[in-house]
Parts: sequence; C-alpha cells; structure tokens
Amino acid sequence: PEAPAVTVEQTLAIIKPDAIHFADEIVEEIKSRGFTITQKRRLRLSPEQATDFYAEHYGKMFFPSLIAFMHSDDILVLVLAKPGAVQEWREMIGPTHPNKARQLSPESLRARYGTDQTRNAVHGSDSYFGAEREIRFMFPGSKSSGDM
Ligand code: PPS
Repeated sequence: PEAPAVTVEQTLAIIKPDAIHFADEIVEEIKSRGFTITQKRRLRLSPEQATDFYAEHYGKMFFPSLIAFMHSDDILVLVLAKPGAVQEWREMIGPTHPNKARQLSPESLRARYGTDQTRNAVHGSDSYFGAEREIRFMFPGSKSSGDM
C-alpha cells in the first residue's frame, strides 16, 4: 500500500493581547476545526522581541503602534498542525481588518473578536516559509516544521 498522500503542515498562531481573555474558547474552536496543537506558550513580548518578529513591517506608519500593542499584555502562541494548515488558519482568522472580515467572512475569528487593524485578535503565518521562520522565532531549539 502507498503512504497517505497528505502531508501535515505547521503554522504559527498568536492570540493577541486584545483577545487573550478569550484564549480558552479560541483554543477550543481551533481544536474543533481539526488542528493539532503541537506547541503552546503564553508570554509577554518585549518591545525588542516584537520588533524582531514584525521586522518586515519596520518603517511602515503603523509600526510603532503595532509594537506597543503587541507588548501591551500577554499573548498565547500556538503551533498548529494539519494538512494545509497555513491556508486553513488564514481562512479561519479572516482579513486583517475586522470590518472587512465582518463583511466578507462573518464567521472568522477577526470578525468576531477583532476591533481594528491593530487590535485584530489573532495572527497567522502568511506562507509555508513564513511559518517556518515564525515557529523558529517563538520556539527556538524545536524541530523545524520541515522535519515533521
Ligand atoms: S501589509 O502592510 O499589507 O503587509 O499588512 P498586513 O500583512 O495585512 O498586516 C500587517 C500586520 O500589521 C498589523 N497592523 C496593521 N496593518 C495595517 N494597518 C495598520 N494600521 C496596522 N496596525 C497594525 C496587522 O494587524 C498585521 O498583523 P499580523 O499579526 O501580521 O496579522
């Protein structure tokens, strides 16, 4: 018999400071959608860590408020595993702006938990290689997703 033609993929999820009080119910919803949570860590990012994590946005107008927000309270960081995890998690969170999410994807997490472009409740890696980088950033020393 042939091996299954599906490959488990990993992505990075963050429950941001504005949604940290809803972390338990969001985690339950993630599991109910068939994701396996392979790593989990609650922490408060320093401004330096937030700056490194969001380095690709350095210099944009919103960068200082993004960093201040991501440092403002605890976050919950999760590694989610599932075939097609990167895209499925992006679909589950919805568009960056919660107003757009409420129009296009009312069931999405940002539609239901988000407020504005900064306080948008959750983060998801934007690509396979973005996920690898972000997982290594948040869980240094762990196996990279490519090894799984
Ligand atoms: S971009 O500029 O198209 O790359 O933006 P995007 O990838 O959609 O989101 C960038 C992340 O920055 C956060 N953020 C904002 N984006 C746009 N405008 C404003 N004012 C803003 N403030 C903060 C946004 O929530 C995205 O965060 P992540 O965690 O990557 O989803």
